Amino acid sequence: MAGIPEEVIDTVRARVDIVDLIQSYIPLKKQGRDFKACCPFHSEKTPSFTVRPDRQYYHCFGCGKHGNAISFVMERENVDFPTAIRLLAQKYNIYIPEEEERRPRSGARQYPGNPEQSYSEKKDRLFLLHEKLREWYAMNLRNNPEAPVAQYLATRKLSPESIQRFSLGMSLDSWDSAMVFAKNLGFTEAELAEGGIIKTFDDNPSKRYDLFRNRLMFPIWDELGRVVGFSARTIESDPKAMKYVNTPETPIFKKGRILYGMHLARSEMSDNKLGCAILCEGQLDVIAMHAAGFPNSVAAEGTAFTPEQARMLRRYTGRIKLALDSDAAGTKAVFRDAEILLPLGFDVKVVRFPGGKDPDELLKQQGREAIAEAVEQAVDFFEFSLRVFSEKNGSSPAGKAQTAKDILEQIALLESEAAKTAYTAWLAESLGLSSDGLYAELVRTARKEAERKERYARYEQEREDVRNQTPAAPAPETQAQKRYKKALMEVLEVLLEYEDAAVVAGEQIPPELLDQSPLAVAVNEVIQAKMLDEWSDSPARIIERLEPQGLISQELSLLLMGKEDAPEEPIPEGLTEEQIQEMKREKQRALNRKKKLALKVLSEDINLLKEFRLNVRMEQLMERFARLAPDDPEKLNLMAEIGALTRERAALRK
Ligand code: CTP
Ligand code: MN
Repeated sequence: MAGIPEEVIDTVRARVDIVDLIQSYIPLKKQGRDFKACCPFHSEKTPSFTVRPDRQYYHCFGCGKHGNAISFVMERENVDFPTAIRLLAQKYNIYIPEEEERRPRSGARQYPGNPEQSYSEKKDRLFLLHEKLREWYAMNLRNNPEAPVAQYLATRKLSPESIQRFSLGMSLDSWDSAMVFAKNLGFTEAELAEGGIIKTFDDNPSKRYDLFRNRLMFPIWDELGRVVGFSARTIESDPKAMKYVNTPETPIFKKGRILYGMHLARSEMSDNKLGCAILCEGQLDVIAMHAAGFPNSVAAEGTAFTPEQARMLRRYTGRIKLALDSDAAGTKAVFRDAEILLPLGFDVKVVRFPGGKDPDELLKQQGREAIAEAVEQAVDFFEFSLRVFSEKNGSSPAGKAQTAKDILEQIALLESEAAKTAYTAWLAESLGLSSDGLYAELVRTARKEAERKERYARYEQEREDVRNQTPAAPAPETQAQKRYKKALMEVLEVLLEYEDAAVVAGEQIPPELLDQSPLAVAVNEVIQAKMLDEWSDSPARIIERLEPQGLISQELSLLLMGKEDAPEEPIPEGLTEEQIQEMKREKQRALNRKKKLALKVLSEDINLLKEFRLNVRMEQLMERFARLAPDDPEKLNLMAEIGALTRERAALRK
């Protein structure tokens, strides 16, 4: 489970109450045993989003979305399972030990300081250290308005809201004040070195000093809103001064995986909010964009934009606007970033700021409207690219051919075939070339690109394998196993819908027919619930068992909520009493037909289950048979048994 132990997941399940959790996102109204709200996942006016506390489950009768507390967070925050667990653990103060701590690998890094301390405790200490430093740097700035850093900041003309929102701060003009401050809080020098807050002198390793001195401090948050590092701007105009000093790679700061502003921007990108992400060059640009009404803006922290950062964004949105510097370097960056984004299925647009300014300068000189206008006028990446290449290659036939070639290379990166076709047609039209010729060229380019990608994937995979040394993935499901699973699912649905079907199933499904898979166990539980007269508890138990495996289909979810809760279909107006009665009778007849059909499906599925088990048994016998010596007397017995099974199977098929 990607680094999260089962016990933690269990603790999250036990500790988090679904009503409490959902209520922290949307207001819920009590209605009978349920809570209701307008669905947060689709737009509606009458509430059909239903939370059932005794089952710790929700289901929307409008859009069919359903699940437990964890799935709610996954859906709502647009995160994967491990991230949802982390978010919940954070919210409910549940401690997550890290993987390194549980499974020490040979050659694992040694961490300085207390050897008793686990890796995750170390990380928690570093998070705490950074949070304390963030507060302290911010306080330094507030309390020293005359200090050079504060005066420099004043020239940048940031609003008090921006300074507060991004918690800007000041490191003091001293060699050790951060170190002294942190040591007073009980942090060790080893911890400070591990967090990249202090460094050693090259010629005297025992002498340590603050990395950040007399600089404007930008705290950097991770996706979950924890401070993991700092970026520190010089206040000198001397071009030889290092403009930014950044936290080095540490256990909590991996720069290729961090996007500045993401903790604020991630909730603003979704389709029901701003519907796209904006990628800027630096943190001052992100701050300016947020101030200009674009809180969906982020920046790659201190490096080129990475595929990891792109995938992080892709969890929230499929649209992105590149708001990079409008100079030659910025254009190069647009092409480089698009190369990462297009294969992930992103719709990419390019924002250009007038006069080659960055958003920070533009905001200062021309205000919010100028930024809004530039964002509004963002052009499709391929339009942008066509402009750039046409200018570079010229409009002679040879130039046009070169432009076509250059852009086809980018079109070949697109994830969808439909988009490739559409853009090729567009390109032919724009350049006045034959589209047939361009398709042929595209196919060649795409083949080359595919080969390149495959080589790259293989290389990545090899590196990944070496890194993890993981055992091979489990064998993929066979056709027979898939059929077995589908049959089980159908059986479960029928059982939940028709209480008396459970009696039939109890008689016809011997326990050895069911394996230990979650679905099989769930079927067994329903049958037992009927026999033990605990029918009303069975949905809750099934939810608990199947939800974590993602095995609850929409139909199953409806059944688990109970049909009676689904809204009643309205009776059309203007019918006579006679007609209404006939309608009801017809409905009843339809229900009866449906039940008969369901019971038939049930018995067919039970046969399928039996056949599957028979086949498994038969394979085992054959294997044993093959391993025996030719004259082993056991062979005769095996043959007899296999013969009996074959006859049994033939009978089943009839
Ligand atoms: N950067 C860095 N180290 C440098 C220069 C830049 O890490 N020596 C990163 C910073 O994250 C910075 C971004 O690259 O925010 C963009 O750099 P640049 O455009 O030079 O800085 P601005 O953010 O525009 O800062 P300013 O407006 O103060 O020049
Ligand atoms: Mn700038």
